[in-house]
Amino acid sequence: GVTRTPLIAGNWKMNLDHLQAVALVQKLHWTLKDAKHESDTVEVALFPPFTDLRTVQTLIDADKIPFALGGQDLSMHDAGAYTGEISGAFLAKLDCAYVIIGHSERREYHAESDEVVAAKVAAALKHGLRPVICVGETAADLEEFGASAVPVGQLQVALEGVSSDAEIVVAYEPVWAIGSGKAATPEQAQEVCAKLREVVADKLGADAAARTRVLYGGSVKSGNIASFLREPDVDGALVGGASLVADEFAAIIRFQK
Ligand code: G3P
Repeated sequence: GVTRTPLIAGNWKMNLDHLQAVALVQKLHWTLKDAKHESDTVEVALFPPFTDLRTVQTLIDADKIPFALGGQDLSMHDAGAYTGEISGAFLAKLDCAYVIIGHSERREYHAESDEVVAAKVAAALKHGLRPVICVGETAADLEEFGASAVPVGQLQVALEGVSSDAEIVVAYEPVWAIGSGKAATPEQAQEVCAKLREVVADKLGADAAARTRVLYGGSVKSGNIASFLREPDVDGALVGGASLVADEFAAIIRFQK
């Protein structure tokens, strides 16, 4: 079968100014550099606030640090009179390879609908960025519909109009597990991630489903990362709080299966 390179993604959210960003990236790099670990076969991606991107890009470039970069959101528009918005073209120019789309915090606090998410996925692909499409159910959804119905529905809309050769990443983030210290169990994550892979197969075909990384996110720590990555359909993690602490994020990257 296809081997998928695990992706460990650090979503900083609205944390760390550009000076704190430099300190974290340098410490992370030095912590990982001399240690023996599996991270040669792990891809690391950082998602700083927009205002840190230029600084982090310069640092990564100067020190040849093997981390990919991404934005936490983007505009569905290309350019023009959209005050406060950041276009995919801007992110691409800053060497971003990825962009997070449809994080539950955007859905909740900025009323991003599935249709908005789909438009942003199209914008990302148009500008050569790989969308990290976030889906997940709230605690209320979980009680009412079970774990997979809401994320499956969200992904179906997000992939509307996406071509079968598109490079995408899917992140399953149960809202009740985000920042709560109460992660899903590996079995729960596996069950939903497998269903999300079926959605990719259904919409984009078997090849796309085999190569697409499906991540788990929600209270991932160095102590539970390995248990998630042992699951066949979990190909990495989208890490929030624990990605802000160099030693902890390094330990997550160095996970041993
Ligand atoms: O995007 C990652 C995130 O929502 C998970 O946050 O703090 O639970 O790792 P956290």
